Amino acid sequence: MAGDVEQLRAYVEYFRDMGVHDFYRQGEPVFPEAAAVVAEVTVAEARPSPVAAAVVAPEYKAPVVAAKPDYLEPPIPKLVSFDDLAPLPESRVPAAGKTDALRVIREDIGDCTRCPLAYAGRRNIVFADGDPNARLMFVGEGPGADEDASGVPFVGKAGQLLNNMIVAMGLKREEVYIANIVKCRPPANRVPEPVEANTCSQFLLHQIDVVQPQVIVALGATAAMYLLGVKQSLVALRGRWHSCRGAKLAVTYHPAFLLRDPRQKGEAWKDLQRVMVELGLKAPAKS
Ligand code: URA
Repeated sequence: MAGDVEQLRAYVEYFRDMGVHDFYRQGEPVFPEAAAVVAEVTVAEARPSPVAAAVVAPEYKAPVVAAKPDYLEPPIPKLVSFDDLAPLPESRVPAAGKTDALRVIREDIGDCTRCPLAYAGRRNIVFADGDPNARLMFVGEGPGADEDASGVPFVGKAGQLLNNMIVAMGLKREEVYIANIVKCRPPANRVPEPVEANTCSQFLLHQIDVVQPQVIVALGATAAMYLLGVKQSLVALRGRWHSCRGAKLAVTYHPAFLLRDPRQKGEAWKDLQRVMVELGLKAPAKS
């Protein structure tokens, strides 16, 4: 039984990483074509067999399904891209002032109680890590247990893989800037709820505007969804440039997903190579 639950959780996480979020929520289907197929199959399965039909009823009549009243559906929050959240800053923060500007944002966050994650057992607010003058920024989903304990993003197993990815790009971790969509750990590492992500995003937006990276890499579907304001599968989002707060944005797999499915590492490397070309980076020579 416990094994079944683990297996189910693994499937859910796998599909979530691929950008499929609507397991339990009513919403726009992520893959409308798939929804149509499912609907067709459902109707076909509901049809009685020809033998039974001959005996029971000559003609199949689709069951009448009562429409659900509107008030039973929770409103689906509209997605808004980071570009639509606020106008772009008119001037850049000078390089020498970025550390201070980021400190002001951190102070503004304070001992935050703006969203439910403040009451969900968080130990540390995980602000960010890295160079305030970085040309490259990585954005993940939210802190896990290790990050919650240390207050530093991407320090657990996924973080170690991210470090390896950064080194493979010819950079050091200290040379990039790393942050998350939410700064507090969602319980049991669940996906941040829209109210949590939307509440927290004002701070990430300011961080991006201060750092003003040339390239942002969205790690996984959740980061891509909130940064870009679109709900699409990773397959649809990868392999092309997007735009976010004046930076070029690339979407790739979350390192935690790559740990679960290492076969996709080659695909992620393709995404990172495109970023390297953009930044003029060369992979280090193999020793
Ligand atoms: N996963 C994330 O998305 N962010 C972290 O900081 C760690 C794991």
